[in-house]
Amino acid sequence: MANLCNIDGRIVPEHEATVPVLDRGFLFGDSIYEVIRTRNGSLFAWQEHLDRLRASAMGIGMELSLDDATILRRVLDTMHAAGNAEHYVRIVVTRGTGTAPSIDLRAAPGPERWILFARPLPPAPSDVRLQIIERLRNDRRALDPAVKSGNYLNNVLGLAEAKQAGATDCLFLNTSDHVTEASTSNVFFVKNGTWLTPPAHAGILLGVTRALLIDFLRARGERVEERDLTRNDALTADAVFTSSTLRDVALVTHVDGIAMPQGEAAQRVLAIGAEFSQQCDRRAKDVDMPSAIQLAQRAKGPA
Ligand SMILES: Cc1ncc(COP(=O)(O)O)c(C=O)c1O
Repeated sequence: MANLCNIDGRIVPEHEATVPVLDRGFLFGDSIYEVIRTRNGSLFAWQEHLDRLRASAMGIGMELSLDDATILRRVLDTMHAAGNAEHYVRIVVTRGTGTAPSIDLRAAPGPERWILFARPLPPAPSDVRLQIIERLRNDRRALDPAVKSGNYLNNVLGLAEAKQAGATDCLFLNTSDHVTEASTSNVFFVKNGTWLTPPAHAGILLGVTRALLIDFLRARGERVEERDLTRNDALTADAVFTSSTLRDVALVTHVDGIAMPQGEAAQRVLAIGAEFSQQCDRRAKDVDMPSAIQLAQRAKGPA
């Protein structure tokens, strides 16, 4: 079955899906997006992703005209039509077609354009090697990484720089030389039994997985600290790992080409990461889908 795409409520094969050249997402990266996955066929952490989508919209002053139930119904309809065993769902909302190729928001009368993809969930890569790169993460005061905007050129070029250096992903620093995140995941270090991760003020996307994992760790009585971290903290950590929707917890084997210790701390990361994934699987089955379906059934009006 071909990959499917839903454009403003119309489901078409991906290769037939087009947007106008004056779409501001195309012209300026003037868009926001979310990536959601299913677990055992059920959407996982739907509410968290929806909340972040709305926060991203607010972060760039974009009004979203669809209500929650309509968004969900479009997602479920697209998933149903695609028929994948496990879905990768991407929601893209652009500020719509402008009246002219002008960056002025007054040339963006709306409405916004809603594009959804439902593809088979890709397999998680087995090996993560991070390179601390020269390119900095966007400064919060310039384009806040907490906004999941479609303007991912910072991440695209960061990843390319890391690959050029022989790594699989980058580790971005910010203008204060503090660690922020990887190209599409958050980062954690384990040091002397404490789980460390950069705070929001470092300039990061507030990952859904990051937040769920922090809660999971704290509920188990683990010490978790959100604090500024340096290149040296990365290189002297007992273990380093990334967190993301598509990969859950992924152990990092190398930082800057240096092999990370694979001792007790790394083994704990693997064990706790596996338990975390199992809890996410259970949560998707028990909670998300029934409430999601109820919400979608309550949806009224055109999809
Ligand atoms: C820059 C960036 N940081 C972190 C993440 C991880 O976020 P989540 O756990 O919500 O997938 C992503 C995911 O796409 C990302 O693009």
